[in-house]
This record gives sequence, C-alpha cells and structure tokens, in this order.
Amino acid sequence: MNRELALEFVRVTEAAAIASARLMGKGDKIGADQAAVDAMRMAFDTIDISGTVVIGEGEMDEAPMLYIGENVGAGGPAVDIAVDPLEGTNLVAKGLNGAIAVIAIAPKGCLLHAPDMYMDKIAVGPRARGKIDITAPVAVNLKNVAQALDREISDLTVVILDRPRHDKIIHEVRQAGARIKLIQDGDVSPIVSAGIEGTGVHMLMGIGGAPEGVIAAAAMKCLGGDMQARLYPENEEDVKRALKMGITDVNKVLTIDDLVTGDDVMFAATAITEGELLRGVQYFGEGIRTHSISMRFKSGTVRFVDAVHSYDRKPFSIKY
Ligand code: FBP
Repeated sequence: MNRELALEFVRVTEAAAIASARLMGKGDKIGADQAAVDAMRMAFDTIDISGTVVIGEGEMDEAPMLYIGENVGAGGPAVDIAVDPLEGTNLVAKGLNGAIAVIAIAPKGCLLHAPDMYMDKIAVGPRARGKIDITAPVAVNLKNVAQALDREISDLTVVILDRPRHDKIIHEVRQAGARIKLIQDGDVSPIVSAGIEGTGVHMLMGIGGAPEGVIAAAAMKCLGGDMQARLYPENEEDVKRALKMGITDVNKVLTIDDLVTGDDVMFAATAITEGELLRGVQYFGEGIRTHSISMRFKSGTVRFVDAVHSYDRKPFSIKY
C-alpha cells in the first residue's frame, strides 16, 4: 500500500470521532455509534482504495453500513479493512475516558476474519516480545514480562476489563504482586498504550471482543510488540459462527502473525473521549481539534496527528 494512504486513513477516523464525540455524555450509545458509522462510511469513499470490510458493524442483514463484505473506497489497491467506528459505545454515552474511532487496513486476506464473539488476549510492548504465552499461568507471564522490562513484577501495570469473568485473573495478578488498572470498556486503547513506552501500561490481559482483538493486533504489530489470543466461544452458536468465518479450530492459540499476516498493515485511531495517549475531540468557535495516531508496519513510523478542522471548509456534508 502506498505510504500516503496512512494519512488518508487518519481522515477516516477523524471524521468518525468528530461526529460521535458530539454525543458524549448524552446517554445515547446507539446514536453515538450511528454518527461514527455514517461519517466513517462517507470518508472512506474519498480514498483511492478498493476496500472490503472484513471486520465491521455486523453481517449484511444486521447492519446497513460498514457490514462485513461491504465494498468501500473510490477505487485503487484491493485491501481488507477492519473498522470499529466507535470503540467504547458506553464510554461515549457516559462521557468516560478511552473511546476511539479505529481502523486497520491490510492487503487482501491478511486480517483474520474474526467472528463477533469473545477472545482471550494477552498483549505486551516490543521489549517483551516473545515472552508471553497465553497458555501459561498468569504469574509466569508476569515474571517473564517483568524480566524482559528489567523490573520487578510489582512495577508492572496490567490493564484488565472490569468484568466478573475476570475475577480469577485479577486475583492471580494481585497475588503475583503487579498493579492493575481495571477499565469499564474499550480494550483496544490499552493495547496500543502497552506498545508505547512511557504510557505506564505494560500489559493487557483478559477476554474482550474478537473483532477488537484483530484491530488491536494490527496496532501492536506496527509497534513491534507482541500479542497472543484464543477465541472464547460461549456456546455452540459461537463455534458455528467461527466455522462460518473459516476458523476450524476455535481452541487454537493465535499469534500476532495469525491475527495479522504479512508486512503491509496500517492502523489509524482518533480519540473520541480523553485517553492516556490521545486527547479527546475538542469543539470551539471556529472548528474542532482532534488527536490521532497513525502507524505503518513497513516503515515502523508512528505519527501523532494533532489536527484543527475548520467548520467553514470541512468537505463532509454532515453538520457537526
Ligand atoms: P462496544 O464499543 O461495542 O461497546 O465494545 C466495547 C468493548 O469494551 C470492547 O473494547 C471489548 O473488547 C468488549 O466491549 C468487551 O465486551 P463486554 O462488554 O461484553 O465485556
């Protein structure tokens, strides 16, 4: 993929974030998601790609836009696209930190077609690459990661979604002595943070959405970190859904290269609400300020894009 596309993709996440952030704190997660979807869909058609949504808002009959299999773009190289126009719907509805608009793009066939179900995940930054094993006890992973980061386990901070299903790993992390940051929603952002030194986040552990897992793996791959995952089917329906998407072994440990294959992946995200790494959307008299991250595996470049958008000259027809 042409490197110029990296900036084009930021335009897509900016559009979604700007549209969705207007609904911050309004208690309307469906409206906030719809605003993000509409804006993202429109922005895609200004980009010279022939994109196919492989991770999106649902199956064709469930979602009118950005559904799996939908073609987007104005024509160009054939790419697969994973979108989460609003990652953290509850966060926006309640005005809480950590919501982002996010996409990952790779050549055809390079993003795992993850079914809409749960996935167990473990993610670390570049210095701990090769030191994680999702099948090993929590304490073993913490010990190996601490060693790789040249610190004590008690100096590690692990992010975990605050869910009853995580009671056991929370207990085990506490027993081993690491610090924990429990989050309400949005496990993509902390995976990105774990990949960047100085954020104070060293690991993410636990079960979240599988589509979010693939998107986060794209980010972690660009950052040079590591991730492992395993689907977490809750019932027969989930197993069937995985099969339908071409995954025959739901118990397989998925490495970062299984989640995202090849070396031509790009990732873009724009903060909707405030975050550890990115400032949330700010509206002011003449315009809007957004803060995004853009990454490209091939070059390893990580760009933070701090942008000001003019109300008067914005090309989108949506009124923010
Ligand atoms: P939505 O944006 O679809 O609300 O998802 C947010 C999220 O917190 C993800 O980041 C996470 O992977 C998943 O939901 C966790 O699912 P659950 O809320 O069912 O525990």
